[in-house]
Amino acid sequence: MTAIAIEKHEAPFKLDMSFGEAIKRLSKVNSKDLFETDAVDNFAENTKTATPFIKWVGGKRSIIEELTSRLPPKLNDYYEPFVGGGALFFELHDRLGNAHLSDTNIDLLITYQAVKLDTAKLIALLEIHAKKHSDAYYYEIRAQQTLKNPIEIAARFIYLNKTCFNGLYRVNSKGEFNVPVGKYTNPGIVTPENLFACSKSLAKTTIRMSDYKQIKPKAGDFVYFDPPYHPTSDTASFTAYSKDGFSEKDQAELRDFYKKLSTAGVNVMLSNSNTPYIQKLYKGFNIDIVDAPRQVNCKPGKRNAVEEVLITNYKYA
Ligand SMILES: C[S@@+](CC[C@H](N)C(=O)[O-])C[C@H]1O[C@@H](n2cnc3c(N)ncnc32)[C@H](O)[C@@H]1O
Repeated sequence: MTAIAIEKHEAPFKLDMSFGEAIKRLSKVNSKDLFETDAVDNFAENTKTATPFIKWVGGKRSIIEELTSRLPPKLNDYYEPFVGGGALFFELHDRLGNAHLSDTNIDLLITYQAVKLDTAKLIALLEIHAKKHSDAYYYEIRAQQTLKNPIEIAARFIYLNKTCFNGLYRVNSKGEFNVPVGKYTNPGIVTPENLFACSKSLAKTTIRMSDYKQIKPKAGDFVYFDPPYHPTSDTASFTAYSKDGFSEKDQAELRDFYKKLSTAGVNVMLSNSNTPYIQKLYKGFNIDIVDAPRQVNCKPGKRNAVEEVLITNYKYA
């Protein structure tokens, strides 16, 4: 089988399997065997609140209160079709009906499934990465573009995410992850308590690799859209989530989809950068401007706050 691609969004690895096949290959190992103690059971009982298990450009942890203060009165089923690090999902998970998480990044979605289904095995592999970590080891792991085992793919993904420069996700024109190693004294590669807490939160979710247009929420459900940002004028925003980025045409199509859901009675919230183009696209909806710390800026010393918009089609308290 050749590398799979969804529409124009290509997989960053040359995977020899589909997303469905990757999921079938998970959970085939009794991961408890990998531990010398009953630590797995102890962690499984832990009461830690889950927080995103990866750093993600555009992650919403820093403005989470701005989001939670603008929720619809009732949540029902929840859809997050640009899930990334899933900051809002992890914040809300115990208040939601069924949750549906999706994204076009196949490595990310395989990692979500591995965290959900094979937490202990994943932790064991992360411990190996953590022990061996060095600049040279990072580049050795980064060069592995054709892994066949989804748990190894997930461990590689988390390891590179925690140790790469700025937690960036960037692929070259061949779709290969190409971010240099970062300089951290303690990169926090293995976080067993949080991974088990995330696994628990994900127990009742569906995790799909798909374009946002595939979601099918019904009236009264809640959808949170957090697409790649529309670039602001002072610096080009970081938009290379896939090697094709997300163009103004994509933003306009997303607005059309937002309107369609809105007309169908779905509660929709969307975040984006505060640019005249985005303001114009969503004219007529509620648009709030909030300050968010800029997370990626190639110019040193330029990490000041930027304005974002939160756009809703409902009234919040
Ligand atoms: C701004 S990030 C989401 C950040 C996330 N809310 C968080 O808290 O970490 C945008 C995400 O959209 C995904 N993406 C890009 N194009 C997409 C598409 N057409 N359909 C679904 N997801 C897409 C990217 O892979 C990326 O994970």
